[in-house]
Amino acid sequence: MAKLIFFLAVQILLLAAVSSTRDDGENFFRTVDRKLLGLHKKEKLTHFKVYWQDILSGPNPTSIRIQPPVTNSTSYFGGITMIDNALTAKVPTNSTLMGQAQGFYAGAAQKELGFLMAMNFVFKTGKYNGSTITILGRNTAMSKVREMPIVGGSGLFRFARGYVEARSKYLNFKNGDATVEYSCYVLHY
Ligand SMILES: *[C@@H]1O[C@H](CO)[C@@H](O)[C@H](O)[C@H]1NC(C)=O
Ligand SMILES: *[C@@H]1O[C@H](CO)[C@@H](O)[C@H](O)[C@H]1NC(C)=O
Ligand SMILES: *[C@@H]1O[C@H](CO)[C@@H](O)[C@H](O)[C@H]1NC(C)=O
Repeated sequence: MAKLIFFLAVQILLLAAVSSTRDDGENFFRTVDRKLLGLHKKEKLTHFKVYWQDILSGPNPTSIRIQPPVTNSTSYFGGITMIDNALTAKVPTNSTLMGQAQGFYAGAAQKELGFLMAMNFVFKTGKYNGSTITILGRNTAMSKVREMPIVGGSGLFRFARGYVEARSKYLNFKNGDATVEYSCYVLHY
């Protein structure tokens, strides 16, 4: 009996503690002055081109299939490839390294070659060092130009939005290595 009373007392104390610290929800969300985050300034439109080096071959591939496509698919449907691809300033793979494209692409179309691209461009040079943009979109890799949305960013690209235009510049049909130009238009503060 004494045990039960003790137990109940503890429960009542715990309940009292919880209800006294419980927020009524009224002050949970608050409006913040845009100036605190520098958002009162005019948005900038920044353009740049980087070259996405998809290396599948050799001893150090940067693009690795982690999930094969579903049986009988002729369009890579269901296949998933993880990437940590170099982003360079020019087409040659040994040109200046600007950053990395990290993420994955997955076969998302059954009747054509159509990838879901989900990747972050992480910049490694100059004032954008450490800043990222996030690209999430549809890539019909055989089309001349593929447009994909930039859905966000970090660092100097906070609150980013925009789009990229991808154009294949080089494709090795034997081993699958490819170089794709990403022409990026980013609105940010
Ligand atoms: C798919 O492949 C299997 C063998 O892997 C075969 O038996 C089947 O007929 C194929 N189906 C189609 C629709 O081609
Ligand atoms: C890049 O590689 C090519 C040959 O593949 C070479 O001619 C060129 O000098 C290299 N450039 C740099 C910057 O290393
Ligand atoms: C980029 O930032 C990293 C980490 O802060 C630093 O180690 C590196 O030297 C920087 N690179 C350049 C080119 O500024």
